[in-house]
Amino acid sequence: MFTTASNSSWDGLVDCFSSYRLVVGLAPAFDLIRFHQFGPACQLEKQLLAPEPNESGSGSGNLMMSSTQVAENITQDDGLVTVSVNDLIVGRTMNFPIYDPHGVLLLAENSEITQERKRAIIQHGVPEVRISQEDKKRVTMNSELANLKTNSFGFDADLTKRIDTIIDGGLMTLKNDGPAVKNDVVYLGRKGYDQQRRQKLIEQHKSNGKALGEMISEVMHGEKINGSIVSNMAAHYLKEMTTDTDNTLTSVIDQFKDDDIASRSMEVSLLAMAIGIEMDLDAVNARHLAVAGLVHDWGMMKVPVETRTAKTKLNPLEMLEIKKHPIYSLEMLQHVSALSTVIPVIAYQVHERINGTGYPRGRRGQSIHPLARILQVADAFVGMTSVRPYRPAMMRYSAMECLIRQARENYVDPKVVRALLRVQSLFPIGSFVQLSDDSIAQVTRRNQDHYTKPIITRVQNASGELVDREADENLIDLHEEESLDVVRALPTPGSNEINYSEDTYHSNLVAP
Ligand SMILES: [Fe+2]
Repeated sequence: MFTTASNSSWDGLVDCFSSYRLVVGLAPAFDLIRFHQFGPACQLEKQLLAPEPNESGSGSGNLMMSSTQVAENITQDDGLVTVSVNDLIVGRTMNFPIYDPHGVLLLAENSEITQERKRAIIQHGVPEVRISQEDKKRVTMNSELANLKTNSFGFDADLTKRIDTIIDGGLMTLKNDGPAVKNDVVYLGRKGYDQQRRQKLIEQHKSNGKALGEMISEVMHGEKINGSIVSNMAAHYLKEMTTDTDNTLTSVIDQFKDDDIASRSMEVSLLAMAIGIEMDLDAVNARHLAVAGLVHDWGMMKVPVETRTAKTKLNPLEMLEIKKHPIYSLEMLQHVSALSTVIPVIAYQVHERINGTGYPRGRRGQSIHPLARILQVADAFVGMTSVRPYRPAMMRYSAMECLIRQARENYVDPKVVRALLRVQSLFPIGSFVQLSDDSIAQVTRRNQDHYTKPIITRVQNASGELVDREADENLIDLHEEESLDVVRALPTPGSNEINYSEDTYHSNLVAP
């Protein structure tokens, strides 16, 4: 079940998704960046089209210089050095202009380096650029950084070696000895949430969050703790999940004001478990997945607080610090008793990517544990839809868009994203949508394979008046209601959620 999806079936899904985007009027997700999409600060196109300078030769600075003139200037200037475009650090501002090897101005002085600009320069057939010596120090990766191995940071090399041996020794296969939990999941159709059960769940999340926080703190102080506490939480959540998956999943959203590791881990854990169940896991594996979700990010607490909570883009050294956190988690889990041996493996591999661009080891495809591949998608979805110190939360629909594209571009396992779609629907449960009759609704339940037609609760009519959410007529199965469709995904009312863009897509790829 964890093999890569066939291209044809995945393309079918993507095609459906793309055409759906056209219907809802959003920009296509898979557009290539074109040069004219640059803002005014990127001057390549302007440079090539710019008029000749005026008689005094002053023009308007670099923007008005012809290519020939720039080339002449460059050949006279031996203060420039050649660097790879890949080495330019996104977010840094150039004090001096960037030229191509023929002397054509690519980026004016005082321009910021962005992911889009780098990609566009490369797509234009320019893999290397000429920049000033002064800028080189500031805006490129120090080549020595590339030689640093994770072990140079003083990790317990034996521990990571042991885990690598386990991984290489064949623990990467997944065996389900028991029946699939999915057989026991109750399909509830248009049934509303049991509010009493929901309230109880919310209280449990709060006490579990507190218990998790205390466990993390104890391990940070070097104490040994009993892992059966987290195993019991997982067993309890498994029961709730089979009774009402949608209610269980939505009960944890927005319950915690603080973006602390314990509470975010609970959301990740529940979502991963729901995806795993959808992928036919048995109870043992579903519980392993949930436990791994609860403990996988503890190592973040060992990352310096100023890096963890930075409000600006991280520099390469800070990013390296972040990339150590799965190894810190691995070390911390040595202090937790009664954990299955697979849990540290999952925690260690949660940030690997199937195309080898992840960390800490850059493992690929089948070398990443199947449960880690599930947890990775759940972790990414929750990460994108959470407020981070450096950006607001992303709309839940937009996070789904990002993951679908990541699956297509081979960052994450398409099978897992497909299961996520079935668990959440394309308009994830809990998110708000506009319907074709102009009313507003909240997605209440998934609708199995009809992921573009979830079960929704109408919350506001076309005139903008609130409606009775509990009334039967406002609980609608969009698959059955043929005349009604979702036309637009909306941000959560009162939030400043951001939507999909090339920038958000690429910045999420490098987010911790
Ligand atoms: Fe993490």
